[in-house]
Amino acid sequence: MAKKTKTAFVCRECGYESPKWMGQCVCGAWNSFEEIRISDAPAALAKERRGAVRSARPVKLSEVESSQSSRIDTGIGELNRVLGGGLVKGSLTLISGEPGIGKSTIIIQAAAHIAQRAGRVLYVSGEESEEQIRMRADRVCGGGLSDMYILSETDMDAVLSAIEEVDPAFLVIDSIQTMYTSSVDSAPGSVSQVRACGSMLMDIGKGRGIPVFIVAHVTKSGELAGPKIVEHLVDTVLLFGGERSGDLRILRSLKNRFGTTSEIGAFEMRETGLAEVENLSGIFLEGLGTAPSGAVATAVYEGTRPLMLEVQALTAPCNVGFARRTAIGIDSGRLSMIVAVLERKASLSLINRDVYVNIVGGIRPEGTGTDLAAALAIWSDEKGVKIPPYVLAAGEIGLTGDLRPVQAADKLIREAARMGFKAVILPERNVKRLAAGEDCGLKLYGVTSLSQAITTSSQISQN
Ligand SMILES: Nc1ncnc2c1ncn2[C@@H]1O[C@H](COP(=O)(O)OP(=O)(O)O)[C@@H](O)[C@H]1O
Ligand SMILES: [Mg+2]
Ligand SMILES: [Zn+2]
Repeated sequence: MAKKTKTAFVCRECGYESPKWMGQCVCGAWNSFEEIRISDAPAALAKERRGAVRSARPVKLSEVESSQSSRIDTGIGELNRVLGGGLVKGSLTLISGEPGIGKSTIIIQAAAHIAQRAGRVLYVSGEESEEQIRMRADRVCGGGLSDMYILSETDMDAVLSAIEEVDPAFLVIDSIQTMYTSSVDSAPGSVSQVRACGSMLMDIGKGRGIPVFIVAHVTKSGELAGPKIVEHLVDTVLLFGGERSGDLRILRSLKNRFGTTSEIGAFEMRETGLAEVENLSGIFLEGLGTAPSGAVATAVYEGTRPLMLEVQALTAPCNVGFARRTAIGIDSGRLSMIVAVLERKASLSLINRDVYVNIVGGIRPEGTGTDLAAALAIWSDEKGVKIPPYVLAAGEIGLTGDLRPVQAADKLIREAARMGFKAVILPERNVKRLAAGEDCGLKLYGVTSLSQAITTSSQISQN
């Protein structure tokens, strides 16, 4: 019986699959559907899955090999931490970021380390020639080049035979958007190609039990250029970002089957490659204290470490009737709420004022612990009161103007003391818990409400 080729339609923006073509996707994108044949690559996968089901039998939990013990050290502490403690064998990791941010650099640095300890590395590049890769490796790798195999290729069939030949312990594909397989009849970078190549890479990684790194470019808006579909396939999605004008690079994970997504890694782009940043808070706080008003230090807990940040605010007269609220690094809905609470519960009139808030350093901390510092920065700028640079504020603001405790306050305070802060304003409930004998060498101001925090700040600035 002749097999009919089944097709489906996949959204280029979000990966949504539909049996019929649609003008607009559930994600809101227009004209984003691309037809794919669904009998091709995923068929091999389905077969493999059936195989897996047939051979499945119960095993003792104690006999299951823990992936923890088989993690590969990448030689880069910050990368290991974001991955959840190194590379898991058989895992697929997608690393995305804007062109020029340093994806190829961080990967070649890790690859050289792995090649020296764990075995051969196959680095497939569809973007650069062997010479270009060699030049970068000479510049940024200390060694390990003898067990590193480079293939400048975009055809997946050629990649497959190279894998057979090299038998690598680590595979890198730079980038997914340049790869194609002849079994799919469309251009590299299209949804069907990326999907087919992605599932081929998954078969390779899972089948051979080796980690695979896949590079993907993203556009300015942060979306994967075209196919978001690989995000569903892989175990871990890393995003490499930063201001391209500056040297600071932040690595974070958007999805991680083997660790948390709250860890961040910090690097500095140098001539000799990416260097790990130890004192990230120091960089973020560099300019603190220079402004006459509108700047307040805060602390957040990112993953397993505390991070000190500077929150800046600017208030200015607005154009008649339409006050602007602009937030960079915090949620804009959150900013509107903070402004509303300042007006209603702390009698600060901002009705004819534009309000801008920015977290210095281009990072977006998770959570709501930055609320209090943002509110105090707005108050400070509006009233022209300078909050001294040795004061740190943290806490979540509620709609009633109350303050809710922050997580891991003890660790934040220890780090604040280490960074040279002298006073911390934070929710009373945090202070009560800490009062259990913690001698941190800091003056702790426990406050229950936003207006009390403002009074306290105002007293501190007068001293
Ligand atoms: N000779 C060099 N000296 C110092 N830095 C360089 C040099 N060449 C490239 N870079 C840095 O490396 C960056 C490109 O990194 P790369 O890993 O190729 O990015 P991606 O793979 O994300 O496109 C450039 O933006 C630049 O900052
Ligand atoms: Mg590159
Ligand atoms: Zn969509």
